[in-house]
Amino acid sequence: MPSDRRTAVAHPNIALIKYWGKRDERLAVPNVDSLSMTLDVFPTTTTVRLDPASGTDGVTLDGTPAAGEPRRRVVAFLDLLRELSGRAEPAAVDTRNTVPTGAGLASSASGFAALAVAGAAAYGLDLDPTALSRLARRGSVSAARSIFAAFAVCHAGRGSGAAADLGSHAEPLDVPEFDPALVIALVDTGPKTVSSRAAMRRTVATSPLYGAWAASAGADLADMRAALRRGDLAAVGEIAERNSLGMHATMLAARPAVRYLSPATLAVLDGVLRLRRDGVPAYATMDAGPNVKVLCHPRDAARVGAAVREAAPGCATVTARRGPGARLTAGADR
Ligand code: DP6
Repeated sequence: MPSDRRTAVAHPNIALIKYWGKRDERLAVPNVDSLSMTLDVFPTTTTVRLDPASGTDGVTLDGTPAAGEPRRRVVAFLDLLRELSGRAEPAAVDTRNTVPTGAGLASSASGFAALAVAGAAAYGLDLDPTALSRLARRGSVSAARSIFAAFAVCHAGRGSGAAADLGSHAEPLDVPEFDPALVIALVDTGPKTVSSRAAMRRTVATSPLYGAWAASAGADLADMRAALRRGDLAAVGEIAERNSLGMHATMLAARPAVRYLSPATLAVLDGVLRLRRDGVPAYATMDAGPNVKVLCHPRDAARVGAAVREAAPGCATVTARRGPGARLTAGADR
């Protein structure tokens, strides 16, 4: 008998070609295509249980009732599930993260991918991976990519309104031979001071550099696809690093500036440059926070981790590899 209580697991992803900025806030349609690697660390587990007896949605995050913006975003997503399914029941959502929430470590990507998969199943929606990716995007654009394992490209789609919504989703990128390590430098795991949502809104509205970065993203993506097909770690790393630094440049030029990079971030970047000078291919990418993710060959991961910890004393490292796509946990709730 089908159950209305479903649990899903999803992993975060790190973009090698970044998404930054939306052209439709309500439908969460990104301005640029992006490309990412789904990780095998820091999963999020989310259970959605339809709760007809309750008058309102219940949302807990790591065992604590959610309030404010995090709750509002989950409830808005449940409203979307109700609209798509034609059902009206409130739901109880329980989310467990294994990574600090809101620290620029992609918790919204794993969080909304898990919520999309568990929520669609609980509300009886039968969606294929493309439709699940489109749905997850409505919660957080980066979540569209965590539906898929390993490498994925998220399309910005064309046009506006329903056409843009339809065209904007991720799809897997078939590069089975490319299997790098990503050494995550946990520079600071506290919550960020400005949410990525607010920061990108301000960047798009005020940064004179944003248009130039967005215009160069298409060439970065084309170069990245070719480098991935060749399995060329150095080229993948160089393109990812320039794309990320360019994104941060757009934020630094916003009015007022958004600066996520801290002194410890820069110390890690210096450590990465030293590694390269010593002949170790290592390349950095940063998201909406001070933490650094260093792309390298798996055989160099221990050395890269040690160099990062030496460059930024007190900073822990976690080594990730390509990870699985979002999925329902097998029958556990039936
Ligand atoms: C810097 O997907 O968290 O990590 O769509 O507003 O929820 P919303 O933003 P989010 O932004 C991620 C931005 C980024 C780059 C990336 O993952 O592509």
